[in-house]
Amino acid sequence: MQDLFEQIAQRPYGHGLPPRCYTDDRFLRLETDSILQHEWHCVGRVDEVPEVGDYFTIDILSEPLIVVRKSETEIAVLSNVCRHRGMPVAEGSGNTQRFRCPYHAWTYTLDGKLRAAPLVPKDQLQKNCALPEFQSRCWQGFIFFCMAEESIWPGDSKDNQSLKHLEAHVANYHMGSMHSAIHFTEVWDCNWKSLVENFLDGYHLSVVHPETLHHLTPTSLCKKVTGSGSFTAYTANYAGTAPARENHHPSLSAEQARQSQLFCVFPALIASVSADTLVYLALHPQSADKVSVKWGLSTFEENLPEEEKRKRIEKWQKINEEDHKILKRLHTGLKSSRAGTGPLAGENFEGTLSDFHHYLVSKLDAETECCA
Ligand code: FES
Ligand SMILES: [Fe+2]
Repeated sequence: MQDLFEQIAQRPYGHGLPPRCYTDDRFLRLETDSILQHEWHCVGRVDEVPEVGDYFTIDILSEPLIVVRKSETEIAVLSNVCRHRGMPVAEGSGNTQRFRCPYHAWTYTLDGKLRAAPLVPKDQLQKNCALPEFQSRCWQGFIFFCMAEESIWPGDSKDNQSLKHLEAHVANYHMGSMHSAIHFTEVWDCNWKSLVENFLDGYHLSVVHPETLHHLTPTSLCKKVTGSGSFTAYTANYAGTAPARENHHPSLSAEQARQSQLFCVFPALIASVSADTLVYLALHPQSADKVSVKWGLSTFEENLPEEEKRKRIEKWQKINEEDHKILKRLHTGLKSSRAGTGPLAGENFEGTLSDFHHYLVSKLDAETECCA
C-alpha cells in the first residue's frame, strides 16, 4: 500500500485519485478501518418507520442492523444479532412488539432488552444480554448510524466538520417533511467512491443524460457550493426552457424553485433535492467492485396522484440506469494496468470531487503514518 500512498500524495494538483484506489480490495479494507467504521452512514428515512414497533433490517459493513421506532419520539438502531448464539433476530421489515429469535426463541423488547430466554436459568443470564444499540441520529428526515462509540455527529461539531452550511443551503426545501414514495436496494458494479464522484460531477450531465437531464440541468449551468470537512455540494440550475415546478414549500424563493441541490454528506450519502422531489442514494460498500445502494424518492406533495408519482420514479430509474451503465464501464477502464488520471474540469463542474478527495485523504492520513 505504501506505493499507493506515495501516488496519492504526489498526484498533480487538481487531479483525481490513482485508479487503484477504486479497484484494490486492500485499499477498501484500509478505508473501512480508518474511515467507514468511524463515520456516520444513512440507513433510510424517518417516515419508513412512522408507528411504534415499525422496523426494517439492513446490513452495513457486514453489520446486521435493526432500525426500529421504539417510542413515539425515538428511533433505535440495534444489532440484529442474537446474544445467545449469533442468529440474526429479525428479517425484512414490518411492525412488531418484540423481536423473537427464530433459532431458540430468545425474545427482545423494542429497545433491545432481553425479555425471555426459554429454559435458561435467570441467574445465568448476564447483564449484557440486550441487543447492543448503536449511536444514531435523525437529520433532515434521514436516519444515520455510526459503529464507533466515540464519533461525534458532524452536525454537533463546532469546527469545519459542521453540516451547518449545508443545513442553511437546503433549509427552504424542507427535506425533513417530504414524504417517502418508494425505496429500492440494488447492487451496483462499481467502486463506492466512483458513485459518489459521479453524483457530485455536473460535468457528465449533458453527456451521459442527453435526454433525461440535459434539457433541464445542462452542465454549463452547474455551480459549485462552498463545502466543509463533512459535505460538498453543487447547484444544478434549470435551463430557461425547463418547466416550472409548481408545488413546493412557500419558503422557497423563485430562484431556488428553479434549482436542484446535489450534495454528499461524507462519506456515502448522496442526494438531490428540488422544489418537489428528493432522491437519495445511501451507499454501503461491499467490495472494491460492488456497492449496495439503497435509493429512495420522496415528494413534497403528501398525496401525489399515482400517475405523477410513477412518472417521477420512472424518470429517476432511467437516470440511475444511465449512471450505473457508465460506472460499470468506467470500472473496467480503472482496472487497466495503463489507467491514469488527467486534470479535473473547473471548480463548478468537478470541484466537488476535490472536496471529497481532500476529506478522504485527511481521514487516511493517520493510518498512512502508522503504516510508514
Ligand atoms: S441464537 Fe437466538 S435464541 Fe439461540
Ligand atoms: Fe448522472
